[in-house]
Amino acid sequence: MNLDLFEGLPDETENAEPEKTSIEKIGEQSVVLRQFASAMQHDLITAIDQIAARAPFRQMVTPGGYRMSAAMTNCGTLGWVTDRQGYRYQAFDPLTGKPWPAMPVIFKTLAIQAASLAGFNDFQPDACLINEYAIGAKMSLHQDKNEKDLSQPVVSVSLGMAATFLFGGLQRQDKSQKILLQHGDVVVWGGVDRLRYHGILALKAGCHPLLGERRINFTFRCAG
Ligand code: SIN
Ligand code: FE2
Repeated sequence: MNLDLFEGLPDETENAEPEKTSIEKIGEQSVVLRQFASAMQHDLITAIDQIAARAPFRQMVTPGGYRMSAAMTNCGTLGWVTDRQGYRYQAFDPLTGKPWPAMPVIFKTLAIQAASLAGFNDFQPDACLINEYAIGAKMSLHQDKNEKDLSQPVVSVSLGMAATFLFGGLQRQDKSQKILLQHGDVVVWGGVDRLRYHGILALKAGCHPLLGERRINFTFRCAG
């Protein structure tokens, strides 16, 4: 299904650029909002650079002792971390001992608007995990389930190089849909889909005009 988001709204001018944002339904309560973040790309990248200057990207270690291939940081009241002790959310960056940088207003606004378009009207994100993928980096199938409030959705924004998102079912062995996520695409999943397994295939070689040989993804949740 492919619905024009702004169907029915009058064009600003007769020669207005065709609106590229569209909604693709990928599950009962899951959508891809194509190009939804594109208009804000420069502000988003500036904000990510500022966050990373205070809370640097780092490759964390899983409880099983594996170093993750994606590098991570966070903004917001709570940040997701992993180490030999386990997966959890915490208010302090283990690297600096300081609180995570605040969630920029444009981040929060984007997340709330995207959630609302997907049918989740009262999204109150307090955590934003930012993943940086170099070529070859990936994320294995997993569920996002460390958050306290699973009635609230996950909103995921992709920038930079394209990657294949795996969107599976509620059981690890369920078949996954393969969805190519490009710069500016936003995915929202919640409700009956909130605990669906998902992951990212290894990033293929390439280069993005704004972010170079990188993909940045940031996900909003209500964690506390
Ligand atoms: C995640 O599941 O935290 C990241 C998903 C993505 O990089 O698109
Ligand atoms: Fe995830």
